[in-house]
Amino acid sequence: MIQKMKGTYDITDDIAYYQLIEKKILNVSKLFGFTEVRFPHFEASELFHRSVGEDTDIVSKETYDFNDRAGRAVTLRPEGTAGMVRAYIENKLYASPITPQKYFYIGSMFRYERPQKGRFREFRQFGGEAFGSYHPQMDAEVIAYAYTLIKALKLTGINVHINSLGGHESKKLYKEALTTHLSPHIDELCQDCKRRYQTNPLRILDCKVDQDHIAIKEAPKPLDYMTEEDATHFNQVCEYLDTMAIPYTVDHNLVRGLDYYTHTVFEIKVSESLLGSQNTICGGGRYNDLVETLGGPKTPAVGFSFGLERLLVALKASNYKVADDYTHVYMLIMGDAARKLSMSIMHRLRIGGIMCDADFNEKSFKAQFKQSAHKNARFVIIVGDEEVKEETITLKDQQEGKELKVPVDAVYPTIVDLLTKKTSSCDSCNHKGE
Ligand code: HAM
Repeated sequence: MIQKMKGTYDITDDIAYYQLIEKKILNVSKLFGFTEVRFPHFEASELFHRSVGEDTDIVSKETYDFNDRAGRAVTLRPEGTAGMVRAYIENKLYASPITPQKYFYIGSMFRYERPQKGRFREFRQFGGEAFGSYHPQMDAEVIAYAYTLIKALKLTGINVHINSLGGHESKKLYKEALTTHLSPHIDELCQDCKRRYQTNPLRILDCKVDQDHIAIKEAPKPLDYMTEEDATHFNQVCEYLDTMAIPYTVDHNLVRGLDYYTHTVFEIKVSESLLGSQNTICGGGRYNDLVETLGGPKTPAVGFSFGLERLLVALKASNYKVADDYTHVYMLIMGDAARKLSMSIMHRLRIGGIMCDADFNEKSFKAQFKQSAHKNARFVIIVGDEEVKEETITLKDQQEGKELKVPVDAVYPTIVDLLTKKTSSCDSCNHKGE
């Protein structure tokens, strides 16, 4: 038997959770004025080299790269920001009269990582990206957007970690201070850190192998090397978060694993007891240079992405109840003439927005009735020889425990009437009209 590829998974039983998460994403995005965009799952490899960065783990070890049949270098998208920015430039979205321009996306990303709990090779992200504002209020707004999704899903035990890398000048000063500080310890650090010391020393700060090394614990903090303007930007972001009472922790070692960030960076984490070391459910930050780097006009931007699989684990652990699946009508059918009649009844009901289901295999009424219970049906309609002859069906209202004889022509209005009527026994159940 051919099995699924390592690091991928099939969504079967959990689909209701994914649908719930996606519904909340759509609602919250509306609240914040972000509109959905969809862009390709594969792009020219160069896009990711120039944006995410040659020396990042993602580009150096994790991308799915291949040459297509015409010999073009192609990469399956490992994240959404690069594709979003490419689409922003290519479609001249920057020329929109609406400012800032705010977009979101939901879809699969691909990274060749070592699979473990909360880490897959194909995973799904929900990302939000806002273009066209330098203002610190926009950074806080984007964090509030992410935080509101968490509130909408009623997740608790959440921590927002925030830091700033500053702009070019601050980053340069900080890099110098950090390399000077790390230089006497470089032989004690892991191979990756030795390489990063030459190419991207900031990344040493979030090395999982060396995280407890004294040189990393006592490393200088970016905020101490920041220009006044950049420090003010960061302080204002924090003040805006305070006004919304969004709790956060300033985490001086937070640098993020992608090269395009400037100024604010942030991550949202859940407790390690839920997801182990892969407990970051959302990561993001400002990237004021990326649009220009990729050939567009100078445009500031800030955004984030959630990992949906990790959100799902947090959601399940919080005992969030997704509504039980149900159907309005289940048909019990016996005989050939009854098959035809049931087909026409179901068609009429579905056109009118009533959910119907049936098992077309030859089965006893008893077996079909069992199926109606599995489907959590509010009504059962019985169609046999007698019903066909009398042009009247038997309608059982499972909720009210009543049985009616209903002329075929009156089935649809009768069901609509019963569905919309408030019943004494169950005011809050799912079986309301559509
Ligand atoms: P990232 O930190 O690489 O950032 O990924 C964002 C989130 O995607 C992570 O916090 C995690 O929840 C999820 N994630 C990442 N890799 C995996 C994996 N292998 N399996 C399951 N979940 C995973 C970005 O991708 C940036 N584009 C975020 C951003 C948007 N920054 C600005 N705008």
